[in-house]
Order: sequence, then structure tokens, then C-alpha cells
Amino acid sequence: MNIIQIYQKYQIMPSLQLHMLRVAAVVKIISDNINQPTDTSSMITACLLHDMGNILKFDLQLFPEFLAPQGQAYWQMVKDEFLQKYGSDEHQATITIAHELGVNQRVIELIEAVGFTHAKDNFLSEDLAKKIVIYADMRVHPKGVVSLEARLQDGHRRFQLQKSKEEREDYFQEMAGYLKKIEQQIFEHCRLKPEDITDKKILVFIDELRSFNKARD
Ligand SMILES: [Fe+2]
Repeated sequence: MNIIQIYQKYQIMPSLQLHMLRVAAVVKIISDNINQPTDTSSMITACLLHDMGNILKFDLQLFPEFLAPQGQAYWQMVKDEFLQKYGSDEHQATITIAHELGVNQRVIELIEAVGFTHAKDNFLSEDLAKKIVIYADMRVHPKGVVSLEARLQDGHRRFQLQKSKEEREDYFQEMAGYLKKIEQQIFEHCRLKPEDITDKKILVFIDELRSFNKARD
């Protein structure tokens, strides 16, 4: 099964498919230009699957434009099926699906490295692949590839909406700082500069990834 067939099997929303393809494409362009050994196949597999359970956290009333052509009732049904099968935690659902697909432990480890709250751990880690996967996710906005700074600004707005803790601002700034350091750590080893990674440059990789067939290895 290629990744598109997997997305169809799990009824992944087209906007979410495109997000995961874009993140994997950012990984591909970095690993093609890095002078350190990295396990590209595991990183790409992890990124293609890293948000598989995300329908569980979507508020389907917020973005009707993402629901066409099937419509809200259809996606609500898919969401209810996910809830029944995998529970309400989107991260746990993603990991369960990755196991169902038979990926190896390294891929699971890399899926678990993605996400804003893991910035400090990945900064401190010696594992360059973990830094690349978290960074790639932080370069992709719903509208496409953007700078880390732009993505952080957008994330900041969303973070403020979600959290109510007093220390949220300090925590956000701390994680954002680690992500900027991760960017430096990656590009020390890379022929590219962060600004060389654009929506236009990743297009060709997205097309290649649509037939990527390494989810089971
Ligand atoms: Fe993501």
C-alpha cells in the first residue's frame, strides 16, 4: 500500500493528508542536503503518519472549507468512528495506527519526537533525526511552508487560546527558543539555508511521496 492508499483506508481528511505530505517533503529536502548520516526512510515514514489521529481534536464547525466536498456530517461520522475505535487522545490514536501499519520502533520514536512540547528534549538530544522531524512540522502552516518565525507567531495565537496556565507565556517562549536553536543545529550540517526551503521547492517531493511505499518495513 502506498501512503495515499493508507490515507484513504483511514479516511484522512485531504487537508491533513497534505499537511503530512508537506512535513515529509521538508524532511526529504533537508536530508538530501545534510552532511550527516540520517535515516531518511524512517523520518519520512514518521512524518507521513505523525498526525493520523488528528481528526479527534478537530472542531469540525470551525473550518467548513476543509470539509468539502463530503461535508460536515460525513466527517463527523468519521470522527465518531475514530473515537469509538481509538479513544479520544489523538496522539495515542496516531501511535496505535502506526502499530497497525507495522512500522518499526524507530519510526514510533520519531513520531513521538514531533510536537511543540518536545522542543527541549530534542534540542538536548544527540539524535539529529528527532531534531529534523520536529523542525519540519514547525515549518508547515495550514497554508503551506513558512519560516519558523511565522509558524511560531501563528502557534502563539493558538497556544494562548488553548491554555489557561499563568506560566503559558514563559513556557511558550522557552520552547520557541529551543526550536530556534534546533534550527541552528540542523543548518550547521546542511548545504541549504532555512529560507531555501519553500512551498515551491517541496512540490516535486510531494509528488514523489504520494507513491512512497515504506510504511511497512
Ligand atoms: Fe503536524
